[in-house]
Amino acid sequence: MNDIIRRYAMMQVPRYTSYPTAAEFTQSVIVADQRRWLGAIDPAEAVSLYLHVPYCRELCLYCGCNTKKALRDDVVATYREALEREIALLDEAVPGRLRIARLHWGGGTPSILGIDGLASVTRALRGRFDFEPGFEHAIELDPRYVTALLAAGLNELGVTRVSLGVQDVNPLVQAAIGRWQPMRDVEAAVQWLRAAGIRNLNFDLIYGLPLQTTASLRKTCETVAMLSPDRIACFGYAHMPRLKANQRRIDETTLPDADARIDQAAVIEEEFQRHGFTKIGIDHFARPDDALALAAAAGRLHRNFQGYTDDGRETLIGLGASSISRFTDGYVQNVADVPSYVRTIASGRLAAVRGCHLDAAERQRARTIESLMCRFEADLDVTAPDMEFIEELSLLQPLAADGLVRVDGRVVTATETGRQVVRVIAAAFDPHARTKATRFSKAV
Ligand SMILES: C[S@@+](CC[C@H](N)C(=O)[O-])C[C@H]1O[C@@H](n2cnc3c(N)ncnc32)[C@H](O)[C@@H]1O
Ligand code: SF4
Repeated sequence: MNDIIRRYAMMQVPRYTSYPTAAEFTQSVIVADQRRWLGAIDPAEAVSLYLHVPYCRELCLYCGCNTKKALRDDVVATYREALEREIALLDEAVPGRLRIARLHWGGGTPSILGIDGLASVTRALRGRFDFEPGFEHAIELDPRYVTALLAAGLNELGVTRVSLGVQDVNPLVQAAIGRWQPMRDVEAAVQWLRAAGIRNLNFDLIYGLPLQTTASLRKTCETVAMLSPDRIACFGYAHMPRLKANQRRIDETTLPDADARIDQAAVIEEEFQRHGFTKIGIDHFARPDDALALAAAAGRLHRNFQGYTDDGRETLIGLGASSISRFTDGYVQNVADVPSYVRTIASGRLAAVRGCHLDAAERQRARTIESLMCRFEADLDVTAPDMEFIEELSLLQPLAADGLVRVDGRVVTATETGRQVVRVIAAAFDPHARTKATRFSKAV
């Protein structure tokens, strides 16, 4: 069976944090669409908000995020001002006072704004929008830059969940990925955040990194499990040196091969399950009583640009350079180049430059793929009642013959083995992926 999995694991397929993926976005979507979609938001509907901060103090060699090294504090401050200006533009574009159900700061490293900067943006948001009682307020942090003062400040701002980039605790791996991060920094960050009253902690880990072995990963899993995070996202390293210049500095001869990646994913699953975590989807783990695990058990798991989520809201508004918004009728992405973003916003214009329209057929494909990614199953009569999917179902036949998928009438189910390569199964429903394989990372 390992031979079969290896063959599929080598395939380059999207991670399906959206369908269509951002690789399909074109200039067919323009600011006029963004304005129309924002203007059509039902004032009674609460939406989710994502704020992107594309700066870090240093760049890690493996990083695939949309970020750059901040060389000057005044540049970061100018970016913060643009974010606040974009909040005002958003307010002008929506009918009534926007209701926010979730707020997520991502990056880059959002804390680079400093606690005063974060407070300033939060004030701009609170001044213009209404927040639902008990809303989730999450932020991604680099443990090396967490201090007791930052933790207390975040709690004052109402932050309820923090994701810490742990990546790997092994010093040799850290050297190979250009991210020196002593374990005591992670421990201190966890302690300060908890002491400040921030109870919900997520860790990000990566497998498939240079010099990682199953033995080193077992140790990493054991070490981080001791800190009792609520959730762990363990991503397979996406190595795309053609798209990411920093990744070209990674010595490819030290990267684990497809077999090793399969074994690493298996060890991680074994270790976290042994430590009492529930596996969620393809790469997340959560304490059984965590909201994500409860959502998964109840069939309420969703997928968005941050990975798996219990947030089922359709409208997600992204602010900041490169951020993506999702509406019923399509996706729209802000310009990724930071100076262009700042200039556009400063001149009083919204910064959308690309996206895609969603018609009824694309929405049904999206629902089918999300269902496969979240539940390893799609009942096509529910997810795509108007679609015949003749070509798609025939594409699944070899996967069925290899024991990866079962097709019972209109119900498509990944087998236990097939779950490992569910992205390949999902890709059968994605006509775009068939022509653009080299733009995506490996399936495992
Ligand atoms: C915005 S960063 C997290 C916050 C903070 N900047 C940090 O690094 O601690 C988002 C996460 O994406 C993951 N990531 C980044 N580049 C990746 C890649 N090439 N492949 C897989 N995961 C990656 C890392 O786990 C990282 O923690
Ligand atoms: S992993 Fe985090 S700290 Fe490292 S470059 Fe990417 S966003 Fe910045």
